[in-house]
Amino acid sequence: MEKYEIKSEVCVYDDSELSAEDREIVNLAKEATKNSYSPYSKFKVGAALRLADGTIVTGSNQENASYPLGLCAERTAIFHAQHTHPDQPIVALAVAAYANGHFYPEPISPCGACRQVMLEVEDRYKHPMRVLLYGASGTHVVNSVKDLLPFQFISTSLEK
Ligand code: THU
Repeated sequence: MEKYEIKSEVCVYDDSELSAEDREIVNLAKEATKNSYSPYSKFKVGAALRLADGTIVTGSNQENASYPLGLCAERTAIFHAQHTHPDQPIVALAVAAYANGHFYPEPISPCGACRQVMLEVEDRYKHPMRVLLYGASGTHVVNSVKDLLPFQFISTSLEK
């Protein structure tokens, strides 16, 4: 048997430690929770991403009476950004969640489908995307989606 370890690096910042640029998208992600359409889960998620040219795009989760048709905040923002700015890498994506009258205390953890979509963005632009996961106790930051998804299925995986 062989055994190996996979490491991810995560930095935790309180609000005052975040750069002004990062604080801006974290705040916009929190703000975006207000536009969530989540009558079923009542779990309001907001996302705000920054493109390489500085443009900011936001999104929120959009649910449906036919439950599986709903879309997460991260993918709402990513797909909108890729449609409107197809030539721009996404350099950072912030996510926040609001439920039961307060922001989620722990860093919101993107679902597996969103991680896979984020990975495609990194692969498409050959540019890492920083991911900022807001929690009331701090913002957890990874420098690449690869830290959230250590095994990666990407375009080149199809060529092997
Ligand atoms: N959700 C997101 O939008 N992003 C996440 O990172 C986790 C989950 C949404 C999907 C659904 O509308 C609600 O939160 C509850 O799962």
